[in-house]
Parts: sequence; structure tokens; C-alpha cells
Amino acid sequence: MVKLKAAIMSLGSKSSEWTAEAMKKYFDQVDALDIRKIDIKISGSEEEIIYDGKPLADYDCIYAKGSFRFAPLLKTLTTVLEGKCYMPLSANSFTVAHDKLLTHLELQKHKIPMPKTFVSSTVPAAKKVLEHTSFPIIMKFPQGTGGKGVMFADSFASASSLLDALEALNQPFLIQEYIETGGKDLRLIVVGDKVIGSMMRHAAEGEARANFHSGGRGEKASPDSMTKKIAVQVAKAIQAEICAVDILPGSKGPLVMEANISPGLQLITETTKIDIPDIIAKHLYENTLARKQKKQANDSGNIMSEINKGAGGEKSMITNLSFRGGNMIVPEMITSATDFKPNDTFEIKTEKEKITISKMKIS
Ligand SMILES: Nc1ncnc2c1ncn2[C@@H]1O[C@H](COP(=O)(O)OP(=O)(O)O)[C@@H](O)[C@H]1O
Ligand SMILES: [Mg+2]
Repeated sequence: MVKLKAAIMSLGSKSSEWTAEAMKKYFDQVDALDIRKIDIKISGSEEEIIYDGKPLADYDCIYAKGSFRFAPLLKTLTTVLEGKCYMPLSANSFTVAHDKLLTHLELQKHKIPMPKTFVSSTVPAAKKVLEHTSFPIIMKFPQGTGGKGVMFADSFASASSLLDALEALNQPFLIQEYIETGGKDLRLIVVGDKVIGSMMRHAAEGEARANFHSGGRGEKASPDSMTKKIAVQVAKAIQAEICAVDILPGSKGPLVMEANISPGLQLITETTKIDIPDIIAKHLYENTLARKQKKQANDSGNIMSEINKGAGGEKSMITNLSFRGGNMIVPEMITSATDFKPNDTFEIKTEKEKITISKMKIS
């Protein structure tokens, strides 16, 4: 039996606690680590991850997540650990998902539908764009969350005064067409290549933003297969195996607003009654196990390569054998060392704890 050791590295939110608890059902050991206790040293020649003053232990699975403030750390961590353990979120996803502009650029690359989005280098240039735009519009900070960086303007006058404020704050921003949905948006949770739960979020009375943190409430939803397919495409595009995709169900069809790689699980779990932490934990376990088994197979392949050449050209190797049912399977290296062909006939001599296979010479 392979023993699997996992860590969830997060800010310790309720959602992370639930996920850690669920992971304990599958993994032999689960450590809940605090990303605020991580330091990483990179020097060109070596790299070192320190947790709470000590070198980070080895894990088979690391689920690292956190808010955009920790994106540089999470990106460094996942880059350094790449190839050393299973991680559901790629290093790249931390840069892309935590910036709405980069997300839109990635969506554009993959031809995924989104609201029309404008980027301007200066406020006067943005005002020029707005002279030819129909209202209302949405303005956003690329790194806002919880609806906090989203502004609504229903006229040139209100947009213009918001832009002046943004200029004074020296903040980059996006301008986006406003999609009329009656204050609703869809949140789909993607795990692997499936949508495992969805809800419709309704903005509170008098609010344009449907976020939970802006007073939005959730309702069970069954999005059509096109919307689900788009959500899975988004997860693939940003290279995140676990994420929430926010979609506006407008009259022009589903339009993607953003992807969230550290989604809150409370509202969606409450709304759908689906055990989302359990599905996430199971996905982590299955992928970690598959990776470990593949690695073990490769490692036994490595033992194989330590072949001693005997005097008569014979080779010997020390290895494990795979058994499938009652059948024994020898590694490929042995097959190629023997030069046996599928149509050859063989003589197999066996005794207890010994086997000799020879090709029959047919003259
Ligand atoms: N282009 C848009 N048209 C209509 N509503 C929008 C648009 N963009 C955002 N919203 C509303 O604002 C909310 C927050 O926007 P979002 O881009 O997801 O930022 P955040 O990261 O803060 O959640 C969305 O859930 C949606 O209700
Ligand atoms: Mg959102």
C-alpha cells in the first residue's frame, strides 16, 4: 500500500478547513499549513522553501491557494515545487487568475466569450473611448475580489468622475460593457474536467454586483451544456484543475467574467447541498495516487538500468514485477534485452522461485 502525504497551504479559511478535513478521509497524512509562515529563497544555484523556520517537508500533494496578495509567493512556491509533487493549480494560474486583464487575455487566446473589455493607458484616452460607448458600463480594478473593485456607471458624467478618481489614485482599470442579466450571475465550480456544482447568484436589491460579499444570495442552477463546456475551457485555459468560473448569462449567451482559484465554498455548498470539499479531496487523492504509481513504475525502470554485463553477454537486474490477476508482466527493458518477438515460440522452465524462458530454435 502506498502511503500518501498531503498539505493544504492556505490562509486557513473555513473553505480550506473543510477541504483539509475531507482530504483526511483519503490521504494518510494531511497538514494544514499557513502560507504566511512560508519563506522561499532562490539564489540562481539553489532554492529552498522554509516553513515556520524549518525546511519544508516532502509531500506527495500540495494544494496551495490564497488571495491575490499572496500571488507572487504562491507562484514562486509552485514553480520551485514543479515536478516534485502533485499540485492542482499551476504556477501560471496564480498570475493569470489573480488579474482580470490577464484572465481576459488568456480567454481571448482560447476564443472564449466574454463581455467586451477595453484597456486604456490614460484617463483622457479612456474618456475618448467612452464618448462612443453606450451606457451603462462597468469599470474594474484588475485585482479586486468580492465585488469591491467593481464600479457601475450609467452615464458619461458618472463614468467621467469615476475615471478622475481612478487617475488621482493612480490605479490601473478595465472598462467593460455592462451585460444586463437582472443582477444575476452564474458561478460554476470546476474540478478536473467537470463542472461539479453551480449556482445562480442574485444581487441584493439596488446592487449591480451579485457577489456574496456584496449581499448576493445563491440559488441552485442547472446551466446548459454550452455554459458548462465554457467553464471547463476556462479552467484549462488558466491551468487550474480546481476553480470557480463566473459567467454572465446575458441575451448574447454565456460571457465569462473571471475565474477564481480560491473560491469560497460556503455559499455554494449551502445552495447546492453538494459535498464540494469531498469532491475536491477525492480529485486530489486520485491524481496524487496516479502520479505516485507512475513515478514508482519509472523508478523500478531505473533499477532496471543498473544492468551487470556477464561474461557471456548475459545481463542481470534487480527489480519488482507487476502481476495482473495470475499473470506476470515483465518490464519492457527485459523484453528488448531478450530480443523476443510476439510470434516466437518459447520454452519456459520453472521450479520453485526460479524461471527460465528460452526462445525455441525452429530449424
Ligand atoms: N460586465 C458586467 N456586466 C454586468 N455585471 C457585471 C459585469 N462585471 C461584473 N458584474 C457584476 O459584478 C460582480 C463582480 O464582478 P467580478 O468581475 O466577478 O469581480 P470580483 O472579482 O470582485 O468578484 C459580478 O458577480 C457581477 O454581478
Ligand atoms: Mg467575481
